[in-house]
Amino acid sequence: MMVKNCVSSSKERQSADLVILPVWMDKKGALLATSEKEFEPLVKFVFEQKDFSGKEKEMQLLYRQNGKEPRVLLLGIGEEESCTPEILRSAYASSMKLLSSKSLKSMNVLFPEVGHLDSEALYTAVIEGILMAGYSFTQFKEKPEVSSLAKICFCGNVKASLLQRIEIIIESVSLVRDLVNGNADDVNVDAFKQLARDFEKEISSIKVTILDKKALEKEKMGLILAVGKASTLPPSVIILEYKGDPKSKEKTAIVGKGITYDTGGLNIKVGVGMETMKCDMAGAAAVMGIMRAAAKLKLKVNLVGALAIAENAIGANSYKPGDVFRSRTGKTVEITNTDAEGRLVLADTISYVEDHYQPTRLIDFATLTGGVIVALGEEASGLCSNDDKLAHALEKAGERTHERVWRLPLYPEYKEYLKSPIADIKNSGPRKASCSSGATFIHAFVKSSSWAHLDIAGTAYLSELKACHPTAATGVGVRLFIDFLEHLT
Ligand code: BES
Ligand code: MN
Ligand code: ZN
Repeated sequence: MMVKNCVSSSKERQSADLVILPVWMDKKGALLATSEKEFEPLVKFVFEQKDFSGKEKEMQLLYRQNGKEPRVLLLGIGEEESCTPEILRSAYASSMKLLSSKSLKSMNVLFPEVGHLDSEALYTAVIEGILMAGYSFTQFKEKPEVSSLAKICFCGNVKASLLQRIEIIIESVSLVRDLVNGNADDVNVDAFKQLARDFEKEISSIKVTILDKKALEKEKMGLILAVGKASTLPPSVIILEYKGDPKSKEKTAIVGKGITYDTGGLNIKVGVGMETMKCDMAGAAAVMGIMRAAAKLKLKVNLVGALAIAENAIGANSYKPGDVFRSRTGKTVEITNTDAEGRLVLADTISYVEDHYQPTRLIDFATLTGGVIVALGEEASGLCSNDDKLAHALEKAGERTHERVWRLPLYPEYKEYLKSPIADIKNSGPRKASCSSGATFIHAFVKSSSWAHLDIAGTAYLSELKACHPTAATGVGVRLFIDFLEHLT
């Protein structure tokens, strides 16, 4: 991450190289969005020229000889009445790109005053925008652009505890992004095991259990073993436990799809379909990020995080279309498409987690289907759930964080899509409704009456970058789920 250990908050502005000054687009023209009187003379003349309107993401850099900062960046944030946290997050994020070309060591950030927004939501959006846009992935650059920006001060009434909370969350988002952006052969089964062990060492409240191939065989987890058959590294299920509320019987399980690379298997992916498939462990990465953030924030919740890690590789030992495998639950599965591998690793892992940990609710995160991208684009994750209350709570968290989720149905008819003549179920149906039918497959292996499935295939790894997302990997799931946990009642 670009900006580290350098953020602070204060009511008084210290001297800095630049200040970000938010500007409304008002009916009569541009209008300062803060009540800091000192900028009025400076901007009066600029605004009179009428070519700065204050529309969202419009920027103008001014220089001045007096004042705490020689540079003043006017940042348009649109109309006050329609201002939302996401507009602010995105506008402040976009300023980082312009600023990276200037040799700044320090900057002050001023907040707008927005009557209809809760101040915590407003502060969070602005700070998140700046920190998320400050992410970079430079591992493979010969000459990475090193930012000189060593100090960012958020000037306003931001409590230190709020700033610290946001920093922990965005660090966790960055961890997820690094894992997803990283090479598939680096972020492999062994890397996930090592990362889990590192977590256990660094974060005393996290306990780790690793199921290797032998343990998976002992547990009769025939589906994840089938998916991982052709890989040089055998599959693994990694469990992280965090008990933040030992007195409570409530326990939330989160399960992540961790396909370190998805070639499609013998039903090999064609064209450009394979090119982005290092992202197919984004669900498992999100679970890692959530566990880290929850433990570091000392949330009063009990969590079990499970990663279903395997590589869907191609080789003489690949699992084969037409063959039937027995799952941990005893249900047999006819493989009609080796590219529908995510649901297989999840089915066995969910079954293991339910039997060994008895969670009161279970949520899985998975880059499961291309179909969800057709339905929702990269703007929302697909949600399928057997529990309206849980689904609603996730939708609310999605609205608050702008990591939006959109519910798709689990109609009983979808079960017909997965009927097999020779096994209890088949792993892939027709192309239609593939997000719902994928979820229907997983549902067949779930005991819990409170389960939700989040299909993050569209939201985890972007084809078009955004202001808040300077690289393809978004780290989706962390902000959403921490917000969800904080609002659990
Ligand atoms: N990992 C893919 C889904 C995916 C697609 C993730 C695009 C991210 C971007 C998944 O394993 C897959 O191949 N799904 C198939 C399922 C089908 C064979 C039933 C799909 O969606 O085409
Ligand atoms: Mn696949
Ligand atoms: Zn996949």
